[in-house]
Amino acid sequence: MSFSEIAPGIRYVGVNDRTTTRFEALWPLPAGVSYNAYLVIGERIALIDTVEQRFGGILFDNIRREIGDRPIDYLVINHMEPDHSSSIEALRLRYPGIRLVGNAKALQMVEGFYGVGAPTVEVAEGSTLDLGGLSLAFFMAPMVHWPETMVTWCPERRTLFSGDAFGTFGALNGGITDSQLDPALYWDEMRRYYASIVGKYGAPVQKALQKVRGLDLATVCSTHGPVWQEQIPQVLDLYDRMSRYEGEPGAVIAYGSMYGNTAQMAERLARHLAEAGVKKIAVHDLTYSDPSFVLRDIFRYDTLVVGSPTYNGALFPPVARLLEAVAARGIPQRNFAFFGSFCWAGCAVRSMAEFAQRMKWEPVGDAVEMKQGFSADADAACRTLAQQIAARIGQ
Ligand code: FEO
Repeated sequence: MSFSEIAPGIRYVGVNDRTTTRFEALWPLPAGVSYNAYLVIGERIALIDTVEQRFGGILFDNIRREIGDRPIDYLVINHMEPDHSSSIEALRLRYPGIRLVGNAKALQMVEGFYGVGAPTVEVAEGSTLDLGGLSLAFFMAPMVHWPETMVTWCPERRTLFSGDAFGTFGALNGGITDSQLDPALYWDEMRRYYASIVGKYGAPVQKALQKVRGLDLATVCSTHGPVWQEQIPQVLDLYDRMSRYEGEPGAVIAYGSMYGNTAQMAERLARHLAEAGVKKIAVHDLTYSDPSFVLRDIFRYDTLVVGSPTYNGALFPPVARLLEAVAARGIPQRNFAFFGSFCWAGCAVRSMAEFAQRMKWEPVGDAVEMKQGFSADADAACRTLAQQIAARIGQ
């Protein structure tokens, strides 16, 4: 059995990207990312998804290593975002007879992005494709996280090709399946991937999970990160909790600070929270923490505490950007508390109260508003607020 064989007749032909610095030109990739593609080899051969076009040559080498000069009969397009689709044009040049398998929306997008069309095979919910010895069935998963998204099921191998679902940031460092690597390295990157990219689409993810739960899964092949076999229950559970926006007990303190006064409030709040018995506390200075890491923690924990100075009669810009990103993801509930500072006219605290109203979140405790420099009075108010927050965490 080759190291690329995930199950009999199913081979990994994906690639690692350790040079792109920002995924979607937004999200940092300190540990890289993999673009996963798979061959399903029956009497006929299907390739499931492609890779980002800069890595197309490696994909084609990987394919040749697995099947030599045999032709590929079908390309199954689960998802059209260019990190998976931008090698399609080159693939068609190499395999002119390859038939593109996708739903109507995906096939329109292939034409629209790359001008590539027939021969195609249009599929819909429940359609099947017989490869001879192995078969594929297609289930639609719209808005996870694009409208054309679908997943592909190989019943003979109980293998789900899930597209971006269950994906993670982080390149594969040798191992492909979760039994060949240390999965502990990927949980945080799964959270960050989900919070950054899929986080807005909790309801469609829940619908897709309902379909997936009806399958007797042995293997889940996502388009990013490890192939899941041993850890499938943990992966489904994490996705279920994230898509229900369920936070575990713990607090994120996210703040901006121009000259260190609001930062002092954040530091004291963190200390007082810890004194009150809270152990899971993530503190982020929003000038320096990338939003993807902050969002990751906000998806993880049930409590969000935000601090901001007043700047130009409004929130400090990095704080405003974070709150915008939280609102865009429609997070329905967090224990939300806030604090702020001003020099001559306070606005930040009022703006965060308005944000809570907009989100329909009931604020926790007495917001702390500090004029000018950090003081013993501000510290006492932070202690009171921390105690009020600690009483709500985990409830
Ligand atoms: Fe990995 Fe939505 O593309």
